[in-house]
Amino acid sequence: MSVRHWVVTGGLGFIGSAFVRQVLCERPEIHVTVLDAMTYAANPANVADVARDPRYRFVKGDIADPAAVDRAIGEGCDAIVNFAAETHVDRSILDPEAFIRTDVVGTHVLLEAVRRHAVARFLQVSTDEVYGHVEEGLSTEDAPVRPRSPYAASKAGGDLQVLAYHATYGTPVLITRGSNTYGPFQYPEKLIPLFVTNLLEGATVPVYGDGLQIRDWVHVDDHARGIAHVLECGTPGHVYNLGCANPRTNLEITQRLLELTGRDWKASVRHVTDRLGHDRRYALDASKAQALGWAPRVPFETGLEETVSWYREREAWWRPIKSGEYKAYYERQYAHR
Ligand code: TYD
Repeated sequence: MSVRHWVVTGGLGFIGSAFVRQVLCERPEIHVTVLDAMTYAANPANVADVARDPRYRFVKGDIADPAAVDRAIGEGCDAIVNFAAETHVDRSILDPEAFIRTDVVGTHVLLEAVRRHAVARFLQVSTDEVYGHVEEGLSTEDAPVRPRSPYAASKAGGDLQVLAYHATYGTPVLITRGSNTYGPFQYPEKLIPLFVTNLLEGATVPVYGDGLQIRDWVHVDDHARGIAHVLECGTPGHVYNLGCANPRTNLEITQRLLELTGRDWKASVRHVTDRLGHDRRYALDASKAQALGWAPRVPFETGLEETVSWYREREAWWRPIKSGEYKAYYERQYAHR
């Protein structure tokens, strides 16, 4: 069994930590170094179950800092998987600058490190949001990139550099573009964890506009498994969509979460001012990743129920988050709506 070393940036975040837990539990030949800047959404508790594994190493640092990236790579590594990103659309509307630094400059710094250290594979974890709003049909990987939020534009900026490095230098890159992801350990600023924790606390939930926007949902474990699969089996220079064709309107999600938490629509739902430039619909065609051998396993209904149970049982995880920086953010984001 040949030992391999993967550097996972953003490994203390939501999808990154699911990937780290999965790899360390299921792949004994792989050693993991997490490089994470420990900004607000990172949480060491997300990897507590695996942090004592001798195959796990942690480096605190920013992907936009070449010295930190060099420290993480150490004597060399076989692959870098880039989960490190600012990811929340609403925060990008309030304050786009951090998105440019991490998602654009950070990606550039990683690509340069891949060249300098001759890393065999670089996988950029991206998002369906780079395709922009999709009126009808599904986005395939060759659909034009038409980002419409500062967040989506910063991710598209990262993706375009990744593809340009492949064309120019032959850098062995891959990109995955996932759809909206849900599951345990998700910071409660995104729709599902925000609504679940608010409902469990007895608070109201803020539905933007008419709530008829459509998102396609993938479970975090399926998403993480898809990324590992593309890393090992994908063709360098290619993009792979990871989605499950589970379209739901936000109102449908809200209704289901009310049922699962035993709360009542009238007392709990508040329609608030819509998000600026709000994309109405995302929809991915994931047949290319499926042809490569990836198949999502978690049915949406089961995944959602388990996620609600997880948040119900893990108050100790989310309560401290909802008190600190989060409170100021929530006030800034929602008080005027
Ligand atoms: P979000 O989880 O922020 O993901 P994205 O914007 O990347 O799709 O939002 C998912 C959908 O839920 C989106 O249409 C916006 C909506 N939404 C609300 O209605 N209220 C909220 O408080 C949040 C955070 C999102």
